[in-house]
Amino acid sequence: MGEKATLQAGTVGSGLFYIRRAEGRGMSRGSLMNQLFRTKNVTAEDINKGDLKRCLSAFDLTLLGVGAIIGAGIFVLTGRAAATEAGPAITLSFVIAGIACACAALAYAELASTVGGAGSAYAYGYAGLGEFPAWVIGWMLILEYTVAISTVAVGWSGYFNNGLQALFGAGLPEYLLHGPWEAAGGIVNLPAFVIVAALGLLLARGAKVSARFNAVMVLVKVSAILLFLAVAIGHLDPSNWSPYIPPEVTDADGRTHFGFQGVLTGAATIFFAYIGFDAVSTAAEECENPGRDLPIGIIGSLAICTLLYMAVSGVLTGIVPYSELNTPSPVASALLKIGQGWAAGLISIGAVAGLTTVMLVLYFGITRILFAISRDGLLPPFFSHVSEATKSPVRVIVLIGVVMCGLAGFLPLHRLAELTNIGTLGAFVVVCAGVITLRRTHPHLPRGFRAPFGPVIPVLGIGFCLWLMVSLRHETWQAFGVWLIAGLCIYFGYSMRHSRLAEQSATGGA
Ligand code: ALA
Repeated sequence: MGEKATLQAGTVGSGLFYIRRAEGRGMSRGSLMNQLFRTKNVTAEDINKGDLKRCLSAFDLTLLGVGAIIGAGIFVLTGRAAATEAGPAITLSFVIAGIACACAALAYAELASTVGGAGSAYAYGYAGLGEFPAWVIGWMLILEYTVAISTVAVGWSGYFNNGLQALFGAGLPEYLLHGPWEAAGGIVNLPAFVIVAALGLLLARGAKVSARFNAVMVLVKVSAILLFLAVAIGHLDPSNWSPYIPPEVTDADGRTHFGFQGVLTGAATIFFAYIGFDAVSTAAEECENPGRDLPIGIIGSLAICTLLYMAVSGVLTGIVPYSELNTPSPVASALLKIGQGWAAGLISIGAVAGLTTVMLVLYFGITRILFAISRDGLLPPFFSHVSEATKSPVRVIVLIGVVMCGLAGFLPLHRLAELTNIGTLGAFVVVCAGVITLRRTHPHLPRGFRAPFGPVIPVLGIGFCLWLMVSLRHETWQAFGVWLIAGLCIYFGYSMRHSRLAEQSATGGA
């Protein structure tokens, strides 16, 4: 179409962007590709800019990471995965998922210390791969966080009601524990609705207040896990670990369980337990020294949780036969089985604290991701408004809170939980690819942290994450496909035209 394009550098908003300036009318295939893959350039200064208040230390970030990681995964899913998929080899499942996460964490740490920005993997994708891949990553992260928070809220509701029953002898009526579309048929899951709303109010008060609350809750849940280990270790029966990998069986639906495939399916399931360290990177614009503190927060929190997970899963399958662990609260039930009821009650308090911090930090994360996407013009400006009083994005906190209250309070979500895993694994793959690309396109950019062993870590990360993705169920892939199609509609219907880079392109980068 007779289009001529030139590359020029221009200063736009808070950073330096390369602007592809298109001259001439109409859109050729080349011009569409240029739009889809236009990248936002990064400078060493960008990492230290932003409108949000810088108040978080490396210690706060590590606690945020532990806050987001330890929750429903270890307190709930471990038992089911051991009982139905992996047997005592659930520890091996934790190792496999842990390797995938360690590679992704190192990749996140490198990009967080190089590119920075509240948008996490979305921002790294924008710098390394282009606008359209960045949008897809952002869209996957929105899925990961929204579904994770809403499903954890439903789990929280169950624990909370158990607590009411234990304390007062009666819990809430059934119609206040289930939404109208659940098999049990109620009005609303009231505790799930209320906890999401309460966390929204807390977050609206600012990052530091939320970080303090998180620190107290993390202390409670880590103490609960250490208590479990201390009490259970004296009751280990090594015969429970044999056979370590139970022989493969096929159920009536033709699905296989146990054997090595079971270990892998177990890994794809308990991968959920590791999700959360990536949320640390969304605090990039609120930490005091991002280049140094983000790698410490991301890698430190993952290392602490991995050690705790290895210990808990090994001890759990060592104190009772794995086949008895398929309960909603396996850690507490195992303690009851070995006659330690007093400790089981305390573990439940730890679980409630754990689920609370997971929701809090992921809620924090999704508001910062939406904030960053909106600041780049790919979502309406409503999402990037920052409150003068608290220096936090209050509007987006309220809006996304209303959506999640609706999901958690009214919809049957349990079948959607695996969507969190697929969204996260997809984002991890792109982050690892971003490390490889950015090292090639920006070799001299200062890196506060560099993942060791050349390209080995990101390549391994991509391999392990894809391996886990293909182990997820067919239905999960279908739902993921529907979500991605919705994302494409929004991108081509709104984002592509409102992108800040597009605007600059139209005005010649002035
Ligand atoms: N890792 C978080 C949990 O296990 C999402 O609840």
